[in-house]
Formats: sequence, structure tokens, C-alpha cells
Amino acid sequence: MGNDEDSRELFQVTLITPLGEKILTAGRKEPLWDAAQAAGVFLQAICHQGRCLTCAGRLLKPGRFDPGRAESYFPQDRAAGFVLLCTAKPRSDLYIKTHAEDEMRMHRLKHGLPAPYA
Ligand code: FES
Repeated sequence: MGNDEDSRELFQVTLITPLGEKILTAGRKEPLWDAAQAAGVFLQAICHQGRCLTCAGRLLKPGRFDPGRAESYFPQDRAAGFVLLCTAKPRSDLYIKTHAEDEMRMHRLKHGLPAPYA
């Protein structure tokens, strides 16, 4: 009561990739990157630890996610809608643009935050 947490086990995730739109199902315990791979969408990633920003995506519609075990994820990232797909787990249906690595690095630099490989 008083908690609007979406307790579903499965969520619909729409990925907008450079190759087009892909709709898939992701479990609440499953990093979005893994769910994408299972659906045949191979996204770029290096560290798989929520640090390097290679896998970054950005919400195109309001949505909720758990950043999971990301080593480096800041409130400013969340406020701007950036998602590290290698660690983030869905907590609502999501609509995400993939390949937002450069955008996220620019955002980090603008806010004086770590931007690996920038
Ligand atoms: S692969 Fe490095 S942050 Fe996701």
C-alpha cells in the first residue's frame, strides 16, 4: 500500500536501435543487455559492470529500472534518462534508444562526472 512499485516479473522493452525497433520481454531479475541478447539483439558492451558506458541507452519515454550492480551510476544519469543496459533491470515497461554511449559521455563531462574513454 502506498507503493506504486510494479511487481510484475516480466516487462515489455522496446529498443530503438540503429537497425530499427525491437520489442522484447525482459524479466525483473535480468539485465536488459542479457534480455536483448536472448532476443537476438547484440548490443555493444565492454565491461559488463556498469562502468565503461559502452552499453548506454537512453529512455525515450518515462520508465523505471533498477541500475543493478552498476559500479558507476549517478543520480544525474538517472535524471537525464540514461541507462547502463549491462546491469539495469526493468521495473516498468521501457522504451529505450540504444547506442547512447557518446551522448552519455558528453552528459558526464558536462556534469564533471567520470566519462571513461572520453
Ligand atoms: S558494458 Fe560497460 S557500462 Fe555496460
